[in-house]
Amino acid sequence: MAKSKTVFTCTECGGQSLKWQGQCPHCTAWNSMVESVAESTKGAGHRFASLGGTAQAVALGDIEAKDFPRLPTLIQEFDRVLGGGLVEGGVVLIGGDPGIGKSTLLLQAAARLSQQVSVLYVTGEESAQQVALRAKRLGVDASRVLLLPEIELEKIQAVLLASRPSVAVIDSIQTLYSSALTSAPGSVAQVRECAAQLTRVAKQTGITIVFVGHVTKEGTLAGPRVLEHMVDTVLYFEGDTHTSFRMIRAFKNRFGAVNELGVFAMTEKGLREVSNPSALFLSQHATPVAGACVMVTQEGTRPLLVELQALVDDAHGNPKRLTVGLELNRLAMLLAVLHRHAGIACFDQDVFVNAVGGVRIAEPGADLAVLLAIVSSLRNRPLPAQHVVFGEVGLAGEVRPVQRGQERLKEAAKLGFTHAICPAANKPRQPIAGLQVIAVERVMEAVDYLK
Ligand SMILES: Nc1ncnc2c1ncn2[C@@H]1O[C@H](COP(=O)(O)OP(=O)(O)O)[C@@H](O)[C@H]1O
Ligand SMILES: [Mg+2]
Ligand SMILES: [Zn+2]
Repeated sequence: MAKSKTVFTCTECGGQSLKWQGQCPHCTAWNSMVESVAESTKGAGHRFASLGGTAQAVALGDIEAKDFPRLPTLIQEFDRVLGGGLVEGGVVLIGGDPGIGKSTLLLQAAARLSQQVSVLYVTGEESAQQVALRAKRLGVDASRVLLLPEIELEKIQAVLLASRPSVAVIDSIQTLYSSALTSAPGSVAQVRECAAQLTRVAKQTGITIVFVGHVTKEGTLAGPRVLEHMVDTVLYFEGDTHTSFRMIRAFKNRFGAVNELGVFAMTEKGLREVSNPSALFLSQHATPVAGACVMVTQEGTRPLLVELQALVDDAHGNPKRLTVGLELNRLAMLLAVLHRHAGIACFDQDVFVNAVGGVRIAEPGADLAVLLAIVSSLRNRPLPAQHVVFGEVGLAGEVRPVQRGQERLKEAAKLGFTHAICPAANKPRQPIAGLQVIAVERVMEAVDYLK
């Protein structure tokens, strides 16, 4: 096949030019020109031919609505975030920082899957020996996994079409290149082209494809972000690489619920499942410490107890605000509410807030716990022992209910907490054994309770 011509396409306006330019000549955007394959508009075998055969409208009622047949990886925490397992022809992207455990998890999953179905593992980052060595260290039986050390897209496509595995792992998408483009592997153009072509193969053949993608701390640079809309499922690893816990979160899933959290611990033998993680994110204090507040968050179908820590200290110069695992903008809003509705000012204070264990909390249910942690640190007075807190805080100083309040309270009671400060609207009708509920309607009431 003759090498196809490439053009440069602006990612902002779609304008094209024959050579790369720093500024788009069409819309004047900077650094928006990305190499792409020039399309011939005529002829058969178009690269973007329809996936479903001849286009013909069908009444929705005539389509048999079956549930997607699942192929469980038998790693339960992984299946949980996938929505029950892999789906035939589905394309999954697993992103995460280098070294967090993507290759480890996928090799473990590939080994398990290979006991039931055929699995192809394409390795572009490591040699076959390195993968074999890892399999040995993990103590998994990967003898049936087909290994393909290859980075050229066209060759991988040929192997996929010839061997038709049930599942193919591409580790990683950033190492692949298509010979149709001149850009370097890992560039936006290559990552996009390779992912698009492999996604097509998945849809045509029913092969399930799992892409590994590295995220840089900045998140965007030629990273998996450009692929998110192409694939069916996007999973991200989170967690500090210096602790042993690893979480996988679903950000997008065409085949299941999002926001499920899979929890693992990294060990010598690879990732071990943590099936009851609710007490994982609590640090152990012999006596209560100022600035610490335990909240109950809800991750998908599971409640999790997470310790939030605040440090409030005299600012020298511009007061700093910093969050780890929580939204920074939310902190600014909470500080304003705290001032306006509880009369507690922090504008001459540095405020740092951290969620223990590297877990990321995106839900507003953390608000009240953040506020109380800040107040506790500012006054240098610990919260009473065995208290949990949750609730969303509104701009008017009201404490709003959260979803699944009952389950959160029950989980807290199960773990031995004796008091819960929560929104009045979440107060359970039936008392929960061993748990005293302090229901609050306003931020002020919660702050007063600590006095
Ligand atoms: N020989 C080893 N012994 C124990 N742990 C190891 C060893 N080699 C790698 N690891 C662990 O595995 C992690 C690398 O995981 P890996 O799956 O290769 O990450 P990724 O594919 O996401 O870059 C390391 O951070 C380390 O914790
Ligand atoms: Mg890797
Ligand atoms: Zn443009």
